[in-house]
Amino acid sequence: MKIEFIIPQQNKTSVLIIPTFEGQKLHDDFDKNAIKAYNYTGKAGEKVSFMMDGFLTYLFGAGKKEETDSDLFFQKLGGTIASFIKTLPQKEISVCACGLKNEKTQTKTPAAHLAYGLGLGSYVFDEYKSEKKEAKSIKIVSKTASEDEKAFENLFAVMDGIYEARDLISEPANMLSPADFVEAVKEMELSKVKIKVLDTKQMQKLGMNLLLNVASGAAKEPFLLVMEYMNGPKNEKPTVLVGKGVCYDSGGMNLKPASGLTHMKYDMSGGAAVVGTMIALSKIGVKKNVVAIVPLVENMLSSTAQHVDDIWTSMSGITVEVGNTDAEGRLILADALWYGQEKYKPSQIIDIATLTGVMRYVFADQYAGLFCNDETLKDELKNASSQTIDKIWELPMNAAFDKMMDSNIADVCNIGGQGAAGSATAACFLKRFIQKDIAWAHIDMASVCWNDSDKPMAPKGATGFGVALLTQFILDK
Ligand code: BES
Ligand code: MN
Ligand code: ZN
Repeated sequence: MKIEFIIPQQNKTSVLIIPTFEGQKLHDDFDKNAIKAYNYTGKAGEKVSFMMDGFLTYLFGAGKKEETDSDLFFQKLGGTIASFIKTLPQKEISVCACGLKNEKTQTKTPAAHLAYGLGLGSYVFDEYKSEKKEAKSIKIVSKTASEDEKAFENLFAVMDGIYEARDLISEPANMLSPADFVEAVKEMELSKVKIKVLDTKQMQKLGMNLLLNVASGAAKEPFLLVMEYMNGPKNEKPTVLVGKGVCYDSGGMNLKPASGLTHMKYDMSGGAAVVGTMIALSKIGVKKNVVAIVPLVENMLSSTAQHVDDIWTSMSGITVEVGNTDAEGRLILADALWYGQEKYKPSQIIDIATLTGVMRYVFADQYAGLFCNDETLKDELKNASSQTIDKIWELPMNAAFDKMMDSNIADVCNIGGQGAAGSATAACFLKRFIQKDIAWAHIDMASVCWNDSDKPMAPKGATGFGVALLTQFILDK
Protein backbone atom coordinates (compact mmCIF):
# COMPACT_ATOMS: atom_id res chain seq x y z
CA MET A 1 0.00 0.00 0.00
CA LYS A 2 1.11 3.48 -0.81
CA ILE A 3 0.46 6.34 1.63
CA GLU A 4 0.81 9.98 0.75
CA PHE A 5 -0.05 13.20 2.55
CA ILE A 6 -1.74 15.94 0.57
CA ILE A 7 -3.39 19.27 1.32
CA PRO A 8 -7.17 19.58 0.65
CA GLN A 9 -6.62 21.60 -2.57
CA GLN A 10 -4.64 18.70 -4.05
CA ASN A 11 -7.37 16.13 -3.55
CA LYS A 12 -8.68 14.75 -6.82
CA THR A 13 -9.51 11.21 -5.72
CA SER A 14 -13.12 10.32 -6.32
CA VAL A 15 -13.61 8.46 -3.02
CA LEU A 16 -13.29 10.40 0.20
CA ILE A 17 -13.56 8.96 3.71
CA ILE A 18 -14.11 11.48 6.46
CA PRO A 19 -13.81 10.27 10.06
CA THR A 20 -15.86 12.40 12.44
CA PHE A 21 -16.43 12.33 16.18
CA GLU A 22 -19.66 11.94 18.03
CA GLY A 23 -21.25 15.34 18.45
CA GLN A 24 -18.69 17.03 16.21
CA LYS A 25 -20.06 20.00 14.29
CA LEU A 26 -19.92 18.98 10.66
CA HIS A 27 -19.01 21.16 7.73
CA ASP A 28 -21.88 23.21 6.33
CA ASP A 29 -21.16 21.87 2.86
CA PHE A 30 -22.20 18.37 3.82
CA ASP A 31 -25.51 17.24 2.57
CA LYS A 32 -27.26 17.63 5.89
CA ASN A 33 -30.38 15.94 4.58
CA ALA A 34 -28.45 12.84 3.68
CA ILE A 35 -26.93 12.80 7.13
CA LYS A 36 -30.29 13.39 8.75
CA ALA A 37 -31.95 10.71 6.67
CA TYR A 38 -29.43 8.14 7.92
CA ASN A 39 -29.41 9.58 11.42
CA TYR A 40 -25.62 9.68 11.41
CA THR A 41 -24.16 10.66 14.77
CA GLY A 42 -20.47 9.74 14.51
CA LYS A 43 -20.68 6.74 16.85
CA ALA A 44 -17.77 4.33 16.42
CA GLY A 45 -18.31 2.12 13.37
CA GLU A 46 -21.20 4.15 11.92
CA LYS A 47 -21.00 4.93 8.22
CA VAL A 48 -23.04 6.91 5.71
CA SER A 49 -22.27 7.64 2.10
CA PHE A 50 -23.48 10.25 -0.36
CA MET A 51 -22.29 12.14 -3.39
CA MET A 52 -20.88 15.59 -2.74
CA ASP A 53 -19.16 17.84 -5.29
CA GLY A 54 -18.53 14.80 -7.46
CA PHE A 55 -16.91 12.86 -4.60
CA LEU A 56 -18.29 9.60 -3.27
CA THR A 57 -18.13 10.67 0.34
CA TYR A 58 -18.22 8.41 3.39
CA LEU A 59 -18.68 9.78 6.87
CA PHE A 60 -16.97 7.36 9.21
CA GLY A 61 -17.91 7.32 12.90
CA ALA A 62 -14.82 7.65 15.11
CA GLY A 63 -16.65 7.63 18.44
CA LYS A 64 -16.34 9.94 21.41
CA LYS A 65 -13.19 11.93 21.09
CA GLU A 66 -12.76 13.17 24.65
CA GLU A 67 -12.63 9.64 26.04
CA THR A 68 -9.95 8.30 23.79
CA ASP A 69 -7.83 11.12 22.48
CA SER A 70 -4.33 9.57 22.24
CA ASP A 71 -1.79 8.47 19.62
CA LEU A 72 -3.07 4.95 19.99
CA PHE A 73 -6.67 6.05 19.46
CA PHE A 74 -5.81 7.55 16.09
CA GLN A 75 -3.74 4.49 15.17
CA LYS A 76 -6.68 2.19 15.89
CA LEU A 77 -9.01 4.49 13.97
CA GLY A 78 -6.64 4.17 11.01
CA GLY A 79 -6.78 0.38 11.40
CA THR A 80 -10.59 0.40 11.37
CA ILE A 81 -10.60 2.53 8.27
CA ALA A 82 -8.13 0.09 6.66
CA SER A 83 -10.59 -2.77 7.26
CA PHE A 84 -13.32 -0.71 5.62
CA ILE A 85 -11.14 0.23 2.66
CA LYS A 86 -10.57 -3.48 1.94
CA THR A 87 -14.29 -3.79 1.22
CA LEU A 88 -14.24 -0.98 -1.37
CA PRO A 89 -13.59 -1.76 -5.04
CA GLN A 90 -11.74 1.51 -5.73
CA LYS A 91 -7.95 1.51 -5.86
CA GLU A 92 -7.39 5.13 -4.98
CA ILE A 93 -8.93 6.48 -1.81
CA SER A 94 -8.53 9.67 0.17
CA VAL A 95 -8.97 9.87 3.91
CA CYS A 96 -9.63 13.28 5.34
CA ALA A 97 -7.75 13.97 8.57
CA CYS A 98 -8.70 17.63 8.68
CA GLY A 99 -11.29 17.33 11.43
CA LEU A 100 -9.12 15.24 13.74
CA LYS A 101 -7.09 18.11 15.05
CA ASN A 102 -8.28 21.07 17.04
CA GLU A 103 -6.98 23.05 19.99
CA LYS A 104 -8.13 20.26 22.33
CA THR A 105 -6.39 17.39 20.54
CA GLN A 106 -3.65 15.95 22.75
CA THR A 107 -1.92 14.17 19.93
CA LYS A 108 0.28 16.54 17.97
CA THR A 109 -0.07 14.80 14.63
CA PRO A 110 -3.21 12.66 14.52
CA ALA A 111 -2.90 12.34 10.72
CA ALA A 112 0.49 10.60 11.05
CA HIS A 113 -0.88 8.13 13.60
CA LEU A 114 -3.94 7.55 11.44
CA ALA A 115 -1.63 6.73 8.52
CA TYR A 116 0.39 4.32 10.68
CA GLY A 117 -2.77 2.45 11.71
CA LEU A 118 -3.96 2.40 8.10
CA GLY A 119 -0.64 0.98 6.99
CA LEU A 120 -0.57 -1.76 9.62
CA GLY A 121 -4.19 -2.67 8.98
CA SER A 122 -3.67 -3.12 5.26
CA TYR A 123 -0.81 -5.65 5.51
CA VAL A 124 -1.19 -8.67 3.25
CA PHE A 125 1.04 -11.71 2.84
CA ASP A 126 0.35 -12.86 -0.71
CA GLU A 127 3.76 -14.30 -1.54
CA TYR A 128 2.19 -17.63 -2.51
CA LYS A 129 -1.04 -16.40 -4.13
CA SER A 130 -1.01 -16.80 -7.89
CA GLU A 131 -3.24 -13.81 -8.17
CA LYS A 132 -2.10 -10.84 -6.14
CA LYS A 133 -4.42 -8.03 -5.21
CA GLU A 134 -3.31 -4.70 -6.53
CA ALA A 135 -2.03 -2.49 -3.70
CA LYS A 136 -4.22 0.49 -2.96
CA SER A 137 -3.06 4.05 -2.97
CA ILE A 138 -4.18 6.06 0.05
CA LYS A 139 -4.00 9.81 0.28
CA ILE A 140 -4.26 11.38 3.70
CA VAL A 141 -5.78 14.80 3.32
CA SER A 142 -4.54 17.28 5.89
CA LYS A 143 -4.04 21.04 6.12
CA THR A 144 -0.64 20.34 7.70
CA ALA A 145 0.38 17.68 5.18
CA SER A 146 4.12 18.37 5.20
CA GLU A 147 4.27 18.46 9.00
CA ASP A 148 2.36 15.18 9.18
CA GLU A 149 4.59 13.59 6.59
CA LYS A 150 7.62 14.48 8.72
CA ALA A 151 5.96 13.04 11.82
CA PHE A 152 5.13 9.88 9.90
CA GLU A 153 8.81 9.14 9.16
CA ASN A 154 9.58 7.45 12.49
CA LEU A 155 6.22 5.70 12.54
CA PHE A 156 6.89 4.47 9.04
CA ALA A 157 10.19 2.99 10.23
CA VAL A 158 8.32 1.05 12.93
CA MET A 159 5.72 -0.03 10.38
CA ASP A 160 8.50 -1.28 8.13
CA GLY A 161 9.95 -3.28 11.02
CA ILE A 162 6.54 -4.80 11.74
CA TYR A 163 5.99 -5.64 8.05
CA GLU A 164 9.36 -7.42 7.87
CA ALA A 165 8.62 -9.31 11.09
CA ARG A 166 5.22 -10.40 9.74
CA ASP A 167 6.81 -11.50 6.48
CA LEU A 168 9.39 -13.65 8.28
CA ILE A 169 6.79 -15.25 10.57
CA SER A 170 4.40 -15.96 7.68
CA GLU A 171 6.99 -17.93 5.72
CA PRO A 172 6.45 -21.65 6.21
CA ALA A 173 9.29 -23.77 7.58
CA ASN A 174 10.05 -25.31 4.16
CA MET A 175 10.85 -21.80 2.91
CA LEU A 176 12.49 -20.40 6.04
CA SER A 177 15.16 -22.54 7.66
CA PRO A 178 17.65 -21.06 10.14
CA ALA A 179 19.97 -20.44 7.17
CA ASP A 180 17.16 -18.78 5.19
CA PHE A 181 16.37 -16.55 8.17
CA VAL A 182 19.99 -15.40 8.26
CA GLU A 183 19.99 -14.79 4.49
CA ALA A 184 16.74 -12.83 4.68
CA VAL A 185 18.18 -10.57 7.37
CA LYS A 186 21.38 -10.03 5.39
CA GLU A 187 19.29 -8.77 2.49
CA MET A 188 17.42 -6.23 4.59
CA GLU A 189 18.10 -2.54 4.53
CA LEU A 190 19.94 -2.12 7.83
CA SER A 191 22.25 0.84 7.86
CA LYS A 192 24.83 0.91 10.71
CA VAL A 193 23.91 -2.66 11.70
CA LYS A 194 26.79 -5.13 11.79
CA ILE A 195 25.66 -8.70 11.23
CA LYS A 196 27.60 -11.62 12.68
CA VAL A 197 26.63 -15.24 12.26
CA LEU A 198 27.94 -18.09 14.41
CA ASP A 199 27.77 -21.56 12.87
CA THR A 200 27.81 -25.01 14.50
CA LYS A 201 31.61 -25.12 14.80
CA GLN A 202 31.82 -21.74 16.47
CA MET A 203 28.99 -22.61 18.83
CA GLN A 204 30.68 -25.90 19.71
CA LYS A 205 33.80 -23.98 20.66
CA LEU A 206 31.75 -21.77 22.93
CA GLY A 207 30.06 -24.79 24.53
CA MET A 208 26.51 -23.87 23.51
CA ASN A 209 25.36 -27.43 24.03
CA LEU A 210 21.76 -26.62 24.90
CA LEU A 211 21.19 -24.84 21.60
CA LEU A 212 23.15 -27.39 19.56
CA ASN A 213 21.29 -30.36 20.97
CA VAL A 214 17.86 -28.86 20.38
CA ALA A 215 19.00 -28.61 16.76
CA SER A 216 20.56 -32.07 16.58
CA GLY A 217 17.37 -33.79 15.41
CA ALA A 218 17.03 -31.52 12.38
CA ALA A 219 18.74 -31.76 9.00
CA LYS A 220 18.84 -27.97 8.92
CA GLU A 221 21.90 -26.42 10.50
CA PRO A 222 21.46 -24.05 13.47
CA PHE A 223 22.90 -20.54 13.64
CA LEU A 224 23.29 -17.77 16.14
CA LEU A 225 22.45 -14.49 14.45
CA VAL A 226 23.90 -11.37 16.07
CA MET A 227 23.06 -7.83 14.99
CA GLU A 228 25.09 -4.99 16.48
CA TYR A 229 23.76 -1.46 16.26
CA MET A 230 26.30 0.70 18.07
CA ASN A 231 25.09 4.18 17.25
CA GLY A 232 25.28 5.52 20.81
CA PRO A 233 28.12 6.85 22.99
CA LYS A 234 31.25 4.66 22.77
CA ASN A 235 31.39 3.75 26.45
CA GLU A 236 27.66 3.22 26.90
CA LYS A 237 26.79 -0.40 27.67
CA PRO A 238 24.38 -1.80 25.10
CA THR A 239 20.89 -3.12 25.64
CA VAL A 240 20.75 -6.72 24.47
CA LEU A 241 17.58 -8.13 22.93
CA VAL A 242 17.27 -11.90 22.50
CA GLY A 243 14.48 -13.40 20.37
CA LYS A 244 13.53 -17.08 20.19
CA GLY A 245 14.14 -18.37 16.68
CA VAL A 246 12.65 -21.85 16.39
CA CYS A 247 11.81 -22.04 12.68
CA TYR A 248 9.69 -25.09 13.35
CA ASP A 249 8.72 -26.67 16.66
CA SER A 250 7.53 -30.26 16.27
CA GLY A 251 8.19 -30.87 19.95
CA GLY A 252 11.04 -33.28 19.19
CA MET A 253 10.85 -36.67 20.87
CA ASN A 254 8.01 -35.27 23.01
CA LEU A 255 6.18 -34.90 19.72
CA LYS A 256 3.30 -32.46 19.77
CA PRO A 257 -0.21 -33.81 19.18
CA ALA A 258 -1.44 -33.23 15.63
CA SER A 259 -3.42 -30.11 16.52
CA GLY A 260 -0.40 -28.64 18.29
CA LEU A 261 1.69 -28.70 15.11
CA THR A 262 -0.48 -26.21 13.26
CA HIS A 263 1.25 -22.85 12.81
CA MET A 264 4.41 -23.97 14.59
CA LYS A 265 6.34 -22.09 11.90
CA TYR A 266 5.60 -19.03 14.05
CA ASP A 267 7.87 -20.21 16.85
CA MET A 268 10.47 -17.72 15.60
CA SER A 269 8.19 -14.74 16.28
CA GLY A 270 10.46 -13.48 19.07
CA GLY A 271 13.40 -13.55 16.68
CA ALA A 272 11.35 -11.71 14.07
CA ALA A 273 10.41 -9.12 16.72
CA VAL A 274 14.01 -8.26 17.55
CA VAL A 275 14.96 -8.14 13.85
CA GLY A 276 12.00 -5.83 13.17
CA THR A 277 13.09 -3.66 16.09
CA MET A 278 16.60 -3.33 14.64
CA ILE A 279 15.11 -2.25 11.31
CA ALA A 280 13.03 0.43 13.04
CA LEU A 281 15.93 1.66 15.21
CA SER A 282 18.35 1.87 12.31
CA LYS A 283 15.83 3.64 10.04
CA ILE A 284 15.06 6.15 12.78
CA GLY A 285 18.79 6.53 13.45
CA VAL A 286 18.39 6.22 17.21
CA LYS A 287 21.57 7.25 19.06
CA LYS A 288 21.76 4.15 21.24
CA ASN A 289 23.74 0.93 21.49
CA VAL A 290 21.55 -2.11 20.93
CA VAL A 291 22.44 -5.70 20.13
CA ALA A 292 19.93 -8.29 18.90
CA ILE A 293 20.63 -12.00 19.20
CA VAL A 294 18.55 -14.73 17.58
CA PRO A 295 19.29 -18.41 18.28
CA LEU A 296 17.99 -20.17 15.17
CA VAL A 297 17.06 -23.86 15.14
CA GLU A 298 14.45 -26.37 14.06
CA ASN A 299 13.13 -28.66 16.80
CA MET A 300 12.68 -31.96 14.94
CA LEU A 301 12.41 -35.66 15.58
CA SER A 302 14.95 -38.14 14.17
CA SER A 303 17.49 -40.71 15.30
CA THR A 304 19.95 -37.89 15.98
CA ALA A 305 17.44 -35.93 18.08
CA GLN A 306 18.19 -35.50 21.76
CA HIS A 307 16.41 -37.89 24.10
CA VAL A 308 14.22 -37.15 27.06
CA ASP A 309 16.48 -37.51 30.14
CA ASP A 310 19.61 -36.28 28.35
CA ILE A 311 21.88 -34.05 30.40
CA TRP A 312 23.93 -31.28 28.81
CA THR A 313 26.39 -28.76 30.10
CA SER A 314 25.28 -25.31 28.98
CA MET A 315 27.63 -22.53 27.89
CA SER A 316 27.31 -21.10 31.40
CA GLY A 317 28.55 -24.36 32.94
CA ILE A 318 25.17 -25.07 34.53
CA THR A 319 24.14 -28.67 33.81
CA VAL A 320 20.62 -29.19 32.46
CA GLU A 321 18.42 -32.28 32.44
CA VAL A 322 16.07 -32.42 29.46
CA GLY A 323 12.80 -33.48 31.05
CA ASN A 324 10.85 -32.56 27.93
CA THR A 325 12.22 -31.95 24.44
CA ASP A 326 9.25 -29.71 23.66
CA ALA A 327 10.51 -27.20 26.24
CA GLU A 328 13.20 -26.29 23.70
CA GLY A 329 12.78 -22.52 23.66
CA ARG A 330 14.23 -22.06 27.13
CA LEU A 331 17.20 -24.25 26.20
CA ILE A 332 18.28 -22.21 23.20
CA LEU A 333 17.52 -18.96 25.04
CA ALA A 334 19.66 -20.01 28.02
CA ASP A 335 22.76 -20.28 25.82
CA ALA A 336 21.87 -17.14 23.84
CA LEU A 337 21.27 -15.11 27.01
CA TRP A 338 24.57 -16.30 28.45
CA TYR A 339 26.40 -15.44 25.24
CA GLY A 340 24.81 -11.98 25.23
CA GLN A 341 25.88 -11.29 28.81
CA GLU A 342 29.42 -12.62 28.42
CA LYS A 343 30.13 -10.92 25.13
CA TYR A 344 28.39 -7.56 25.56
CA LYS A 345 28.26 -6.95 29.33
CA PRO A 346 24.88 -5.25 28.83
CA SER A 347 23.14 -2.87 31.20
CA GLN A 348 19.87 -4.59 30.46
CA ILE A 349 18.92 -7.79 28.68
CA ILE A 350 15.44 -8.59 27.39
CA ASP A 351 14.27 -11.80 25.80
CA ILE A 352 11.07 -12.23 23.84
CA ALA A 353 9.73 -15.65 22.95
CA THR A 354 6.74 -17.81 22.09
CA LEU A 355 7.66 -19.85 25.12
CA THR A 356 4.58 -21.44 26.66
CA GLY A 357 1.26 -22.36 25.05
CA VAL A 358 -0.64 -21.76 28.29
CA MET A 359 -0.25 -18.00 27.83
CA ARG A 360 -3.21 -18.23 25.47
CA TYR A 361 -5.36 -19.59 28.31
CA VAL A 362 -4.23 -16.83 30.64
CA PHE A 363 -4.54 -13.85 28.33
CA ALA A 364 -6.40 -14.98 25.18
CA ASP A 365 -4.82 -12.71 22.55
CA GLN A 366 -4.83 -9.61 24.74
CA TYR A 367 -1.49 -9.51 26.54
CA ALA A 368 1.97 -10.97 26.50
CA GLY A 369 3.36 -12.04 29.88
CA LEU A 370 6.12 -9.96 31.46
CA PHE A 371 8.58 -11.43 33.93
CA CYS A 372 11.25 -9.08 35.26
CA ASN A 373 13.86 -8.96 38.02
CA ASP A 374 14.25 -5.17 38.08
CA GLU A 375 11.78 -2.42 39.02
CA THR A 376 13.19 0.24 36.69
CA LEU A 377 13.24 -2.02 33.65
CA LYS A 378 9.73 -3.20 34.47
CA ASP A 379 8.43 0.37 34.59
CA GLU A 380 10.20 1.30 31.37
CA LEU A 381 8.65 -1.64 29.55
CA LYS A 382 5.18 -1.04 30.96
CA ASN A 383 5.40 2.61 29.99
CA ALA A 384 6.49 1.75 26.44
CA SER A 385 3.70 -0.81 26.19
CA SER A 386 1.06 1.72 27.20
CA GLN A 387 1.97 3.80 24.15
CA THR A 388 1.68 0.96 21.64
CA ILE A 389 -0.72 -1.81 20.62
CA ASP A 390 1.70 -4.33 22.13
CA LYS A 391 0.17 -4.96 25.55
CA ILE A 392 2.09 -6.70 28.34
CA TRP A 393 1.04 -7.77 31.83
CA GLU A 394 3.31 -8.71 34.67
CA LEU A 395 3.31 -12.23 36.11
CA PRO A 396 5.19 -13.38 39.22
CA MET A 397 8.39 -15.31 39.72
CA ASN A 398 9.19 -16.60 43.20
CA ALA A 399 11.35 -19.07 45.09
CA ALA A 400 8.67 -21.79 44.96
CA PHE A 401 8.43 -21.65 41.16
CA ASP A 402 12.21 -21.65 40.99
CA LYS A 403 12.50 -24.71 43.21
CA MET A 404 10.14 -26.62 40.94
CA MET A 405 12.88 -26.53 38.30
CA ASP A 406 15.44 -28.37 40.44
CA SER A 407 16.67 -31.64 38.95
CA ASN A 408 17.50 -34.76 40.88
CA ILE A 409 20.70 -35.41 39.02
CA ALA A 410 21.66 -32.14 37.29
CA ASP A 411 21.70 -28.48 38.37
CA VAL A 412 18.35 -27.73 36.76
CA CYS A 413 15.63 -29.45 34.74
CA ASN A 414 13.93 -27.80 31.75
CA ILE A 415 10.46 -28.73 33.01
CA GLY A 416 9.06 -28.67 36.52
CA GLY A 417 5.91 -29.29 38.49
CA GLN A 418 4.42 -31.50 35.77
CA GLY A 419 3.68 -28.39 33.79
CA ALA A 420 1.96 -26.52 36.63
CA ALA A 421 2.59 -22.76 36.49
CA GLY A 422 4.16 -23.44 33.09
CA SER A 423 4.94 -19.85 32.18
CA ALA A 424 6.35 -18.81 35.55
CA THR A 425 8.50 -21.92 35.89
CA ALA A 426 9.84 -21.33 32.36
CA ALA A 427 10.77 -17.80 33.40
CA CYS A 428 12.47 -19.14 36.53
CA PHE A 429 14.46 -21.54 34.37
CA LEU A 430 15.74 -18.62 32.27
CA LYS A 431 16.51 -16.61 35.41
CA ARG A 432 19.07 -19.20 36.44
CA PHE A 433 21.13 -18.09 33.45
CA ILE A 434 21.04 -14.39 34.32
CA GLN A 435 24.21 -13.06 35.90
CA LYS A 436 24.32 -11.11 39.14
CA ASP A 437 23.29 -7.45 38.92
CA ILE A 438 21.94 -7.61 35.38
CA ALA A 439 18.48 -6.20 34.80
CA TRP A 440 16.55 -8.79 32.82
CA ALA A 441 13.04 -9.06 31.42
CA HIS A 442 11.38 -12.01 29.75
CA ILE A 443 8.37 -11.45 27.51
CA ASP A 444 6.33 -14.57 26.77
CA MET A 445 4.49 -13.71 23.56
CA ALA A 446 2.91 -17.11 22.83
CA SER A 447 -0.52 -15.52 23.39
CA VAL A 448 -0.11 -12.68 20.92
CA CYS A 449 2.11 -13.80 18.05
CA TRP A 450 -0.74 -14.84 15.77
CA ASN A 451 -4.27 -13.59 15.09
CA ASP A 452 -6.91 -16.20 14.26
CA SER A 453 -9.17 -13.46 12.92
CA ASP A 454 -8.72 -9.93 11.63
CA LYS A 455 -7.98 -7.11 14.05
CA PRO A 456 -7.97 -3.49 12.91
CA MET A 457 -4.19 -2.99 13.04
CA ALA A 458 -3.23 -6.63 12.52
CA PRO A 459 -5.04 -8.76 9.95
CA LYS A 460 -5.42 -12.51 10.48
CA GLY A 461 -1.98 -14.13 10.72
CA ALA A 462 1.34 -12.94 12.08
CA THR A 463 0.98 -9.87 14.29
CA GLY A 464 4.56 -8.64 14.44
CA PHE A 465 4.11 -8.21 18.18
CA GLY A 466 7.10 -6.75 19.99
CA VAL A 467 8.51 -4.44 17.32
CA ALA A 468 6.47 -1.41 18.39
CA LEU A 469 7.00 -2.19 22.07
CA LEU A 470 10.78 -2.70 21.94
CA THR A 471 11.34 0.24 19.60
CA GLN A 472 9.34 2.54 21.89
CA PHE A 473 11.27 1.19 24.88
CA ILE A 474 14.63 2.02 23.29
CA LEU A 475 13.41 5.42 22.04
CA ASP A 476 12.28 6.42 25.55
CA LYS A 477 15.52 5.39 27.25
N1 BES B 1 6.62 -23.09 21.10
C1 BES B 1 5.99 -23.73 22.21
C2 BES B 1 5.01 -22.82 22.91
C3 BES B 1 3.77 -22.49 22.15
C4 BES B 1 2.72 -23.39 22.10
C5 BES B 1 3.62 -21.27 21.53
C6 BES B 1 1.56 -23.08 21.44
C7 BES B 1 2.47 -20.95 20.85
C8 BES B 1 1.42 -21.86 20.82
C9 BES B 1 7.04 -24.18 23.22
O1 BES B 1 8.25 -24.56 22.71
C10 BES B 1 6.45 -25.37 23.92
O2 BES B 1 6.28 -26.35 23.30
N2 BES B 1 6.17 -25.23 25.19
C11 BES B 1 5.59 -26.27 25.95
C12 BES B 1 6.23 -26.27 27.31
C13 BES B 1 5.98 -27.49 28.10
C14 BES B 1 6.63 -28.70 27.45
C15 BES B 1 6.56 -27.29 29.46
C16 BES B 1 4.08 -26.05 26.02
O3 BES B 1 3.66 -24.89 26.04
O4 BES B 1 3.36 -27.00 26.00
MN1 MN C 1 8.19 -26.63 22.11
ZN1 ZN D 1 8.74 -23.73 20.91
